[in-house]
Amino acid sequence: MPTDDQAQHLNPNPRHIAIIMDGNGRWAQQRFMPRALGHQAGVKTVRKIVEYCATQKIEVLSLFAFSSENWRRPEAEVSLLMTLFMATLQREINKLDRNNIRLRFIGDRSVFSDKLQQKMAEGETQTENNTALTLVIAANYGGHWDICQAFQNIALKIVTAELTPEDIHETLIGQYLSTADLPEPDLFIRTGGEQRVSNFMLWQLAYAEMYFTPKLWPDFTPSVLAEAIASFKSRQRRFGHTGEQVLSQVVTLQP
Ligand code: IPE
Ligand code: IPE
Ligand code: MG
Repeated sequence: MPTDDQAQHLNPNPRHIAIIMDGNGRWAQQRFMPRALGHQAGVKTVRKIVEYCATQKIEVLSLFAFSSENWRRPEAEVSLLMTLFMATLQREINKLDRNNIRLRFIGDRSVFSDKLQQKMAEGETQTENNTALTLVIAANYGGHWDICQAFQNIALKIVTAELTPEDIHETLIGQYLSTADLPEPDLFIRTGGEQRVSNFMLWQLAYAEMYFTPKLWPDFTPSVLAEAIASFKSRQRRFGHTGEQVLSQVVTLQP
């Protein structure tokens, strides 16, 4: 039998938290405000959550900022989101750098304006040696896209005979994903009440613990995140084993 302490803290802190920041639009609509103000309020939440994760010694925080499907929104909203993205980068990169935070982007950035792509590259280069927290922003990201680009790059290596089809196994595919050098997310959070993955990190979420909250993203706070982390710590992760095997500690736990 686990002791009370073990039962309450089965897991250490998550190493990688991945969040779908949803509910900005509804937050604004509830206040009879344009959706744009919801997105602006959402940026403030990002700042607080990044700071909190850095203080909690989380290694990686991934935030879904714009999906490959979000281009389907009205042109005015898409354009507002791009402007907000650019303005936020301009304002925040130096601050992230001062706080020893490493910034990374995942997603197909080739469709963004040259100016935005330049700023993204600048942010990555400026912060690449920082060690406190890796902040991954998923922009024009889709899980399907990630798997496709991995397969394309593997196929190129097969064409040049650097790889053979027999080399394709789970570890190799992981090495070609946009998150290759990062631990897989162990805690997945979605705000806004929907309980779906919406094409986020499909491969990488294979064994993540899921946490859904009705809180709209602008209302999400470090204390709600702390609740999600506490919930994560109290769960028994089994990775296919039985609960008894896990408790007897005779098995190595990994996805
Ligand atoms: C998430 O909030 C932000 C982005 C998708 C860019 P939404 O804009 O999806 O907010 P809701 O779901 O309409 O409330
Ligand atoms: C997912 O939210 C994408 C981001 C948060 C960037 P959506 O609001 O676009 O998801 P769906 O369309 O409701 O599934
Ligand atoms: Mg939404």
